[in-house]
Amino acid sequence: MADSSSRAGERYVSPAILDYVNRVHAGHDPALAQAFAVPDGIPAIQVGPSEGKLLELLLRMIGARKVVEVGTLVGYSAIHIARALPEGGHLWSVEYEAKHAELARANIAKAGLASRVTVQVGAGRDVLPTLDRHGPFDAVFIDADKVNYDHYGRWALEHLRPGGLVLGDNAYLFGELMDDSDRGRAMRAFHEMVARACDSVCIPTPDGLVLGVVRAH
Ligand code: SAH
Ligand code: DHB
Ligand code: MG
Repeated sequence: MADSSSRAGERYVSPAILDYVNRVHAGHDPALAQAFAVPDGIPAIQVGPSEGKLLELLLRMIGARKVVEVGTLVGYSAIHIARALPEGGHLWSVEYEAKHAELARANIAKAGLASRVTVQVGAGRDVLPTLDRHGPFDAVFIDADKVNYDHYGRWALEHLRPGGLVLGDNAYLFGELMDDSDRGRAMRAFHEMVARACDSVCIPTPDGLVLGVVRAH
């Protein structure tokens, strides 16, 4: 049946429904549970369980071997990404805060994934150029400082293989995507450059998740 409310953006999800579907489809084992919890003083801003599982399945579907993440926090999304990789695959994850990176490395090691993940400390704009030589990449997941999404998106599109994926969390910018602000402009530039170079969609997760598949020219 046509549903004009849901087409207009109404959501039927409730906390109970979200709990249920996360439990059924995206349950946490001890390693994920540990990386979903954060110690005092660290913000709890990981992707949700369903978005983490979605990243994992998308990467598995394309047979991803080499992936870059910008914004590690304590390794929750990195564990999902690394689990999608085959033997010999690798994730390079960039994190500005040394404390976050240290916790992430411990969580990733506990998940048994230390050999598959490099957590590189520094600002994305400084670290990404040092990763050029490992490319081309199968996927780039952007989830760090929003004001630099245009920069990260440009780097991703330059270093992804045809058919590779560019993914961007917080694509609704906490509801501020249309604002006349530096990060509003940067996030819109990110959307538009992905749409130009890729077959793309903004998946309507709670804060939007851009997915672009790089077009082969
Ligand atoms: N992807 C993670 C959550 C990342 S939260 C997950 O889903 O589990 C955003 C992270 O980006 C924070 O840890 C923050 O310290 C980091 N960050 C902020 N500015 C950054 C920058 N310029 N370069 C790299 N990381 C940055
Ligand atoms: C923030 C960052 C994120 O990547 C996110 O998903 C939620 C919140 C933040 O910086 O507050
Ligand atoms: Mg995010």
